[in-house]
Amino acid sequence: MLLKSQHFLSHLSRAFAALFLLLVSGAAWAQTSPVPPASTTPQSSRPNVETPKPATAISYSAVHVDGPFIAMTFDDGPSEKLTPELLDILAAHHIHATFFVIGENAERAPQIVQRAVKEGHEIGNHSWSHPAFAKMSDPAVRRELQKTDDVIHAAIGHSPVLLRPPYGSITARQKQWIHAEFGYRIILWDVDPLDWKRPGPSVVESRIVRQTRPGSIILSHDIHPGTIKAMPETFDKLQAKGFKFVTVSELIAMGKPMAPLETGPENTNPSPSSAASMSPSATPSPSLTNP
Ligand code: NI
Repeated sequence: MLLKSQHFLSHLSRAFAALFLLLVSGAAWAQTSPVPPASTTPQSSRPNVETPKPATAISYSAVHVDGPFIAMTFDDGPSEKLTPELLDILAAHHIHATFFVIGENAERAPQIVQRAVKEGHEIGNHSWSHPAFAKMSDPAVRRELQKTDDVIHAAIGHSPVLLRPPYGSITARQKQWIHAEFGYRIILWDVDPLDWKRPGPSVVESRIVRQTRPGSIILSHDIHPGTIKAMPETFDKLQAKGFKFVTVSELIAMGKPMAPLETGPENTNPSPSSAASMSPSATPSPSLTNP
C-alpha cells in the first residue's frame, strides 16, 4: 500500500531538492505554488514555475509527503503518572512523538519534559491553562503563550517552535500575529479518535488505525489511562501497515508541494497526488467540550 520503492526513491531526491530550495530561499511551499526541482526537471515540462511565491504556510492539519510518514501527538500533559508509562511504550516501539504540553503541568513536572526530549520527542506549546484563544484578547493569549514558552525553555534549554491551540480554537488573525511574534507554526490534526470521551482502548485504537494516512497528524491525550492502554496495539498495527513515526517538525520538513507531482522518471506526466493532502488552511471543527 505505502511504498513503491522506485517511485518513492525518485521522489525522495526531489523532496530533498525541494527542501534545499526551501531552506536557502526562506520561502515556504504551499499547495498552490510548487517549489520546482530545478536540477532534475526539464524547463519545458514544468507548469506553473512562474507562479508567484505563496504566503508562508503557518498552519497544518496534515502534511503532503511522499512516503508513509505520520506524526503522533499527545496533548494536555505531562501527566506525572501516565506520561512516563507512555514514554516507555514509545521507546519500546522506537517511536518519536510530539507532546503539546500545558504550561501549568510542565512547570510541575519539568523532569518528564526533559526526559521526553532526551528520548527524541518534540515539545510544543499548548498554552498555560488551556483556554479557547479565539475568544480572548491578544495580551491574554500572549501571556498564555509566553509563560509556557518560558517554562519549556527553562526545562529543555530552548523554546518550542510549534503551537497547538486548545480545542483548535484560534482565528486567522491570531495565527498571523502569533507566528510573527513567537515564530510558532500552528498545528491542528486530521485524525481525531475522540479519546477524551474515554470510549475504551480498542475504540481509540481502531479509530486511529482506520483514519491514518501518509502525512497524518494524529491527535490524542496523554492524560487518559485508556489512551495509554490503546497505544501498544495502535503502534503495532500502524507499524504493520508500514507507517513510520516522526515528530511534527520532521513531518513538516518532509512536506512537498501538492502539484505538479511527476509520476515517472521523465517528469512529463504531472498528476494528482494519491497521498494525504497538505491542507494548511483546513481547520478541524473540534468540539469545545474537548479537554
Ligand atoms: Ni488540549
